[in-house]
Amino acid sequence: MKSFSDKISIRKPDDMHLHLRQGEILKVCAPESAKWFQRAMIMPNTIPPIINSERLISYRKEIEEAVFYRNNRESNIPKENFTPLMSFKLYPGMKEEEVIKLSKAGAVAGKLYPEGSTTNSEDGVKSWKQITEALSAMSKLGIILAIHGEKPDSFVLDREKDYLPELFQIIEHYPDLKIVLEHVSSVEGVNAVINGPVNLGGTITIHHLLITLDDLLGGGINPHNFCKPVVKTPKDREAIQNAALSGNRKFFFGSDSAPHPESLKIKTGGNAGIFSAPVAFPLLVSFFEKNGSKELLENFTSRYGAEFYNLPLNSSSITLERKESKVPERFSDIVPFMAGATIEWDISTSE
Ligand code: NCD
Ligand code: ZN
Repeated sequence: MKSFSDKISIRKPDDMHLHLRQGEILKVCAPESAKWFQRAMIMPNTIPPIINSERLISYRKEIEEAVFYRNNRESNIPKENFTPLMSFKLYPGMKEEEVIKLSKAGAVAGKLYPEGSTTNSEDGVKSWKQITEALSAMSKLGIILAIHGEKPDSFVLDREKDYLPELFQIIEHYPDLKIVLEHVSSVEGVNAVINGPVNLGGTITIHHLLITLDDLLGGGINPHNFCKPVVKTPKDREAIQNAALSGNRKFFFGSDSAPHPESLKIKTGGNAGIFSAPVAFPLLVSFFEKNGSKELLENFTSRYGAEFYNLPLNSSSITLERKESKVPERFSDIVPFMAGATIEWDISTSE
């Protein structure tokens, strides 16, 4: 059933959770996000991580250059079309002074990775009690706490659920801190956001919205659908879909697009992360056309995230047309989400 006309324009969207990496991968991936999104919240789990203002500033510059110059040629994406929003990685013992410097350098979020929970989190945090000085500073400065909410030593499908007591301790101790439970993946995670205070939000990815464990290992194993937190049961997916379609302003889009070279994904101990940037937005358009409305789509991708982060709404728009295309099998040596599948929408103009 079609409910949108064959051309739709919506306010330019934001991606509130994005991994861009560095070097060659960054050059390949950044333009794929800039094509669709006006702004993106850039994750700090690079090597080395983004933990001080000098690194934050130089990483932002590297991203801007990668968007504007693909393979050292000028790309056709105008400069004003993509703004990286920067975050830093929280580490045990982090001082207020460092947070203040990061804030001055433009950081809008601090990311809490429980130690060992995901890609490049060996240097993460064991307990929020190790970062109390930083959390107090963030609360004062209005910097958002973004959390990878998984308890690493729990059973893999229970990790999000088992993290929630820690989340509620943080909420209790820092009532003014704005917190995002990133990439909600379970019934319990969704309910925590719904029932939590107004300053608790949650990002939703395209893969948690569309796929389940069946797509990861129900048939032949598909490492390109492996991410943290892992995609879960049909019930969990349904809760996430309902949250995205509910119009609740606590839920907004964050792709968690996380590219890895194929050789690092297809091996024993392969990396977690799904590279969804090239397809996330057209897939969202199809999903909301089938199940929601243009207004719900626009709020989810272009309003609620900005409002949560106290950012102005984007003033430009993006136009898509109904036009089938095949998802490329590879972007350099990275296999994207839904490689080889047919998508129903393509970009028409972006102004
Ligand atoms: C992310 C990555 O590769 O950096 N991986 C993932 O599976 N989502 C890290 C993260 O957000 O967990
Ligand atoms: Zn992520």
